[in-house]
Amino acid sequence: MIAGDGIGQEVVPAAIQCIQALLPAYSLRIDWVEYEWGSDYYLKHGRMLPVDGLDRLAKHDAILLGAVGMPGIPDTETLWGLLIPIRRSFEQYVNLRPVRALPGVPSPVRGGDDIDLVLVRENNEGEYSEIGGRAFVGLPEEIAIQETVFTRRGITRIANYAYRLAASRRGLLTSATKSNGIIHTMPFWDEVVSEVGNGYPTVESRSILIDALAARLVLRPAEFDVIVASNLFGDILSDLAGAIAGSIGVAPSANLNPERKHPSLFEPVHGSAPDIAGQGIANPIGQIWSGAMMLEHLGETSAANHLVKAFEAALANGVRTRDLGGIASTAEMTAAVIENIDLIDPTGT
Ligand code: NAI
Ligand code: MG
Repeated sequence: MIAGDGIGQEVVPAAIQCIQALLPAYSLRIDWVEYEWGSDYYLKHGRMLPVDGLDRLAKHDAILLGAVGMPGIPDTETLWGLLIPIRRSFEQYVNLRPVRALPGVPSPVRGGDDIDLVLVRENNEGEYSEIGGRAFVGLPEEIAIQETVFTRRGITRIANYAYRLAASRRGLLTSATKSNGIIHTMPFWDEVVSEVGNGYPTVESRSILIDALAARLVLRPAEFDVIVASNLFGDILSDLAGAIAGSIGVAPSANLNPERKHPSLFEPVHGSAPDIAGQGIANPIGQIWSGAMMLEHLGETSAANHLVKAFEAALANGVRTRDLGGIASTAEMTAAVIENIDLIDPTGT
């Protein structure tokens, strides 16, 4: 586990407490190894993680991460120094972000209380590339060029994952595009997604321009099942969808290497929230739900469902942090989840 920066230091211990409370009922044990990497490490050592950091992480079954990012250190150092190297070197090409209305969490949007979708974000290529540069720095002629990278292999594998997921759910796949404005990469994305779709006759698929899709997500959130999107579009849509579900503080995510060649990484969608860090008021649900996704990935589906039921019950009882309009602290929210973990029967009877 890497708690990282800001509220990561508060929500990761909260999630671990909940998971630990759950394990005995399933005769499970997790050997947590804590890595104190992140911005404080950076300030001392000039890098976000040790030189052999990735090799050390590679030996683990899974990674639970809080967030990285600290005011005063450029995000290019923090995100590109820790999170993005993990996602890329461990081929975590699927960023899976379920968005579902939770009991007791009102949506700010009409129809938002029926939202139940999964965002499948391409996580290894696309718009977030290192190719490009700056020239004539400081001069009036200064320019910046950033190249976008889409590969047939990259689009094919994310599209396959999204179609398989849609086939296991309500059977509707929406692909986010912008082929009217971005005239090389986005038509390529559309073509490859459509080719992959030929292999999934039970899935209905449609392609919607990202701007219209953003509006539609706000106006008719319940009509979406699985959305597949490039790295940038998926990033933006996931905060939007998380906000429609009530708060970005409840949104979980998994960075998956579906082939299980490398460990996968589980983290909330939100960042380090420096505006509320250190106050003990962060919502731990996004982190706890990410922990449930980790248990699910490790094959412990019953334990994962138990954990989800427990935080849903705590919310349904009216325990809510401030981002959800409540008054509970992180510790109080966590205690309410643990109380419900103990109340739920692991045999499901
Ligand atoms: P943010 O997600 O940290 O915060 C956005 C807003 O949501 C803030 O007002 C914050 O207080 C609120 N919020 C977020 N999580 C919350 C929670 N659990 N409970 C209650 N309120 C919550 O995004 P922001 O402010 O744009 O970024 C802050 C830093 O985090 C930046 O350095 C950014 O690069 C980094 N970041 C890191 C991510 C990661 O580690 N995966 C993801 C997103 C941002
Ligand atoms: Mg984001």
